[in-house]
Amino acid sequence: MPPSAPTAAHDVRLPCAKVLGAARGRAKAFRPESVVNISGMSFGSLSGNAITALNKGAALAGCLQNTGEGGLSPYHRNGGELVFQLGTAYFGCRDEHGRFSLDRLKDLVAGAPVRALEIKLSQGAKPSLGGLLPGAATWASGRSWPP
Ligand SMILES: Cc1cc2nc3c(=O)[nH]c(=O)nc-3n(C[C@H](O)[C@H](O)[C@H](O)COP(=O)(O)O)c2cc1C
Repeated sequence: MPPSAPTAAHDVRLPCAKVLGAARGRAKAFRPESVVNISGMSFGSLSGNAITALNKGAALAGCLQNTGEGGLSPYHRNGGELVFQLGTAYFGCRDEHGRFSLDRLKDLVAGAPVRALEIKLSQGAKPSLGGLLPGAATWASGRSWPP
């Protein structure tokens, strides 16, 4: 801000005009703190370090990080709040047969700072029918990803 502006030397908040969930009376309706947020980029397409950096940045900036469709990894748990993206492959909320599991989704959301869900109905630039990540990833514990 120019030194003469009324908000010079202050942090300037720019919350969303819309209260998410208000129109349908959701119990956890909320107004996002920022209109500028971090768009969906999956762990697997981005490294663990990159996801960690973005999540810590979201916490510092007071904005939301969209997980992308690759699931909610340990790297998403660094204090930043999340939008969980549910894509065509249901990563993070599949049952043992690979089908969508509402119970797993509920558990996932209950165990992480997920403020909203984004349902991705279709696929853009990724190969094939979507839900494919370019390669398998592992995280620090040696477990493979996506779950
Ligand atoms: C590495 C990478 C991974 C992405 N993964 C997802 C994803 O999982 N889900 C999604 O909806 N979009 C995904 N996107 C698309 C971004 O969310 C965004 O829409 C796109 O990059 C366009 O924004 P930009 O012009 O600022 O890059 C991904 C983009 C990148 C670069």
